[in-house]
Amino acid sequence: MNDTFLMLGIESSCDETAAAIVNSDGTILASEVASQMEVHAAHGGVVPEIAARAHLDAIDVVIGRAMETAGIAMGDLDGGAATGGPGLIGGVVVGTVAAKAIATARRIPYYAVNHLEGHALSPRLVDKVGFPYLLLLVSGGHTQLLAVRAPGIYERYGTTMDDAAGEAFDKSAKIMGLGYPGGPAIERIAAKGNARLVQLPRPLRGANHCHFSFSGLKTAVATRLAAIEADDGEAGIPDLAASLQAAIADCLADRAKRAMARFADAHGPATLVIAGGVAANKAIFTRLETEADKAGFALSVPPAWLCTDNAAMIAWAALERKDSPDDLDFAPRPRWPLDPDAAPPPGRGVRA
Ligand code: KG4
Ligand code: ZN
Repeated sequence: MNDTFLMLGIESSCDETAAAIVNSDGTILASEVASQMEVHAAHGGVVPEIAARAHLDAIDVVIGRAMETAGIAMGDLDGGAATGGPGLIGGVVVGTVAAKAIATARRIPYYAVNHLEGHALSPRLVDKVGFPYLLLLVSGGHTQLLAVRAPGIYERYGTTMDDAAGEAFDKSAKIMGLGYPGGPAIERIAAKGNARLVQLPRPLRGANHCHFSFSGLKTAVATRLAAIEADDGEAGIPDLAASLQAAIADCLADRAKRAMARFADAHGPATLVIAGGVAANKAIFTRLETEADKAGFALSVPPAWLCTDNAAMIAWAALERKDSPDDLDFAPRPRWPLDPDAAPPPGRGVRA
């Protein structure tokens, strides 16, 4: 392996504009993230048109900052990678055009990286987790269980039938008036609550597949909140937040348990990796740690900055297949499943 292959990574598929420089030996020379959180907070969620414009404003600055931090010039780059999907298409186009322009000008290879693959391979950047492993990807846009067998070879065990786990946090937090993003707000306030005081459902617990469903939880949260506001019991908002966090943790643990059994049947017990913004939640980590222990799996969680959207994971995913670049006519993809052959969840449409 050529140790000096320097990859520029660009991420712009949601509400973070990010650029990173990563070496093929796994050294991260720079990882810069410009968050649009404040811009979207006023709207209680990401507004696609505003996001695209903000990416356009930030992209050059963020790439420049990454080059400066890494102490390199454009001429030192050996490859340019950008998220090519799935995601909000306006943002994906901005990052893709930037990477293609740099690749063309510098005559270096261009890589269109699947954002989910970025998350899926990220544990190998820091922990050198070996193939195959089981990945629980839990973010604002995705909730999936995947067997990661090699770069480009994924078997999807399960996905959400409706909301993602992060969405369950975000939408519930909005109902409770806790602001955006909801996950960190709920975790903070849940620390002061008692989960046992409010009963919430555990959708799909015990089901004989590995899919998820979270939309019923936000409806239940709205009902319990109305009862709390009507002041008909001892429970308060912190108790509701604690109960929601426990319900989501239970659902994730139950589905992960089933997936670990399936994975172990095929490959033997290995490592369960949790990635995505929701992986930052301590209660969820603890719950999954117990479940992994019982199944004989090791648990690996990349550091928080690598769990949330970033460009180092995009650069790394490209480095894992640096000898197979993409054509410059690659068209950004709003939907791009990692496992195109995956069976859909029973009876419902699937999010890619
Ligand atoms: O991976 P990410 O940064 O962006 C996406 O690709 O979506 O994930 C963002 C999601 C949001 O839904 C946010 O509420 C959730 O991750 N999140 C958390 C926590 N920190 C972020 N959820 C629960 N607990 C947290 N501490
Ligand atoms: Zn993501």
